[in-house]
Amino acid sequence: MKVLIVGGGGREHAIAWKVAKSPKVEKIYCAPGNAGIAEVAECVPIGAMEFDKLVAFAKEKEIDLTVVGMDDPLVGGIVDAFEAEGLRVFGPRKNAAILEGSKAFSKDLMKKYNIPTATYENFSSPEAAIEYLETKATFPTVLKADGLALGKGVLICNTLEEAKAGVKTLMLDKQFGSAGNTIVIEQFMTGREVSVLSFVDGKTIKLMTSAQDHKRAKDNDEGLNTGGMGTFSPSPFYTTEVDEFCKKYIYQATVDAMKAEGREFKGIIFFGLMLTQDGPRVLEYNARFGDPETQVVLPRMKNDIVEVFEACIDGTLDQIDLQFEDNAAVCVVLASDGYPEHYEKGFEIKVLYIFKDKDDYFVFHAGTKLDGDKVVTNGGRVLGVVATGNDLLTARANAYEATKLIDFDNKYMRNDIGKAIDNAVK
Ligand code: GLY
Repeated sequence: MKVLIVGGGGREHAIAWKVAKSPKVEKIYCAPGNAGIAEVAECVPIGAMEFDKLVAFAKEKEIDLTVVGMDDPLVGGIVDAFEAEGLRVFGPRKNAAILEGSKAFSKDLMKKYNIPTATYENFSSPEAAIEYLETKATFPTVLKADGLALGKGVLICNTLEEAKAGVKTLMLDKQFGSAGNTIVIEQFMTGREVSVLSFVDGKTIKLMTSAQDHKRAKDNDEGLNTGGMGTFSPSPFYTTEVDEFCKKYIYQATVDAMKAEGREFKGIIFFGLMLTQDGPRVLEYNARFGDPETQVVLPRMKNDIVEVFEACIDGTLDQIDLQFEDNAAVCVVLASDGYPEHYEKGFEIKVLYIFKDKDDYFVFHAGTKLDGDKVVTNGGRVLGVVATGNDLLTARANAYEATKLIDFDNKYMRNDIGKAIDNAVK
């Protein structure tokens, strides 16, 4: 098979690495890819939103399967564009990717189908939003831009004044453009966050192993929100009791709700869960693999991922026995100092150890590019250093040891990825 992967971050590198392990696959292309992905795929300089060019490329190269890693093209309808030309593609159609593309839609879906989530109201008028904040909201409260906003459209507001300023930022100043035309005002929830990714074929859902992300830039969950500074899998907080609750009230219920709405979902549903004192609640849905969750989940997956992608497309996921190793993985993101605000790029990355072809260490590239024969930094998040181990503590020790073997100017990382594990495992 010839496979095309759309995207160019650490998530897509992990997907490409896993696809390359499939005996069915003879050639992988990635658009646009990065320097690490170039080790397993031929990278082509086509942007993820250039649907016409991507479709033309897939036809010219007779691609058998296209896998879309990123949210923007999915929400923008890339799957519909490929299907319209008779091309096989893994991911939700536009009418299903709305599960991530519109927070107002997903909240209304959960309300309609009794899927546990925080109470909320949607607003498309700033005046109505402010009146609600003045008369009904409790603080802290959460403001969410309806549309995609690079993961930055969520504001936690401690006071009425902060919340009013947030309405201005999102709805009047349009800091995130049209994503803020509608906002969700939601009850603030406390608890531990867990990410659960799943494969879905429209009717059947198969869960992957759990993971936990670290979204803040600095240790102790301080600093600005980022795309994710590190992950561990499994989450020891995702207990059997939590799993049973979510299976009963959340996972299949979401798939069935989308089907009932005439929006059959095929692809990945990423459940962002909050484990509150009152039980698990859905914090958000994503319609694609998580980044950097994928980097710790796929190295633990036993199946041929191409078989699973095909089963999702063909509606035969019930025949797949999805299995994960009984081990653990930790990912530490090496970033450019200053991320997520201002940072410099173009520094040579020096790797003092050959990670390639190891089956317990992985270096997934996020923001890198080739400059002649050198690999240089080319983004805020540069590399995800992943190690596996028999348990989380071993995996974490291995991952941090591995971070010492990679160097570049302005290298920055959090030193407490997985620290919460200490409270949960012996
Ligand atoms: N790690 C969070 C996300 O992928 O959205």
